[in-house]
Amino acid sequence: MILEKSVEYINSKLGDFKPEIGIILGSGLGDLADEYCDYAISYANIPGFEASTVSGHKGRLVFAKINGKNTVMMQGRFHFYEGHSIQKVVFPVKVMKKLGVKTLIVTNAAGGVNGNFKPADLMIITDHINHMGVNPLIGINDNSMGERFPDMSNVYTQEYVKLTENIGEELGINLQKGVYMAFTGPSYETPAEVRMARVIGADAVGMSTVPEAITAAWAGMKVIGISCICNSAAGVSTVGLSHEDVILAANTAKEKFKKLIKEIIKEI
Ligand code: HPA
Repeated sequence: MILEKSVEYINSKLGDFKPEIGIILGSGLGDLADEYCDYAISYANIPGFEASTVSGHKGRLVFAKINGKNTVMMQGRFHFYEGHSIQKVVFPVKVMKKLGVKTLIVTNAAGGVNGNFKPADLMIITDHINHMGVNPLIGINDNSMGERFPDMSNVYTQEYVKLTENIGEELGINLQKGVYMAFTGPSYETPAEVRMARVIGADAVGMSTVPEAITAAWAGMKVIGISCICNSAAGVSTVGLSHEDVILAANTAKEKFKKLIKEIIKEI
């Protein structure tokens, strides 16, 4: 099976390094893996991985000890809008599980739907709405990983939401909290879609994270989600949206983002 092949290949490169924390670095947030890199493997070389096609995404797995913990970072992720099947999008999460990862920190760039959010704010994800029209667990269930009908009541581990809030306070980083709603993209939402998102309870919208979080929760991993609010979602402010502005805002936020993630790694 391709999953076993992939894990075998990675393990053959790692020696006795066993990652316990997985981190998916979102658009413009890949710096942490440049700062800490003990060993890296290009996605192109890993069985079952696809090449990443988005600018601002590098496309490699980076292994590093950060604050005393063994981590594996995805510097660049697979998006559904790139044309990958949803199974390919979540494949790395399954690989992480098999490598021994217990906690997944999943991050992204997102648009702010909550009118109180400003560009470059960080938001702790407390819950999500899957509006992608697809679920990564569709298909034959791998009972060795998780159950057929997994409970999604506590995807974003409550205890870690609290911990992250406390860390934010200690570090003097103002953190927002809220519900992330996933659209497929690649087009940004229309103002009407953003109004719908708000009405049904979303605070931020984006094009990723939910498939990976569902898969991680299914596989019994703890999940921490952090969104970098890069812009006001369509119609929330009068300014139009561009990928360049998203990357710019992520750049503004990246120092506090890295500080926060490093401290979370230390405390979990
Ligand atoms: N919508 C969806 N995805 C995004 C946005 C947005 O406004 N900003 C950054 N990623």
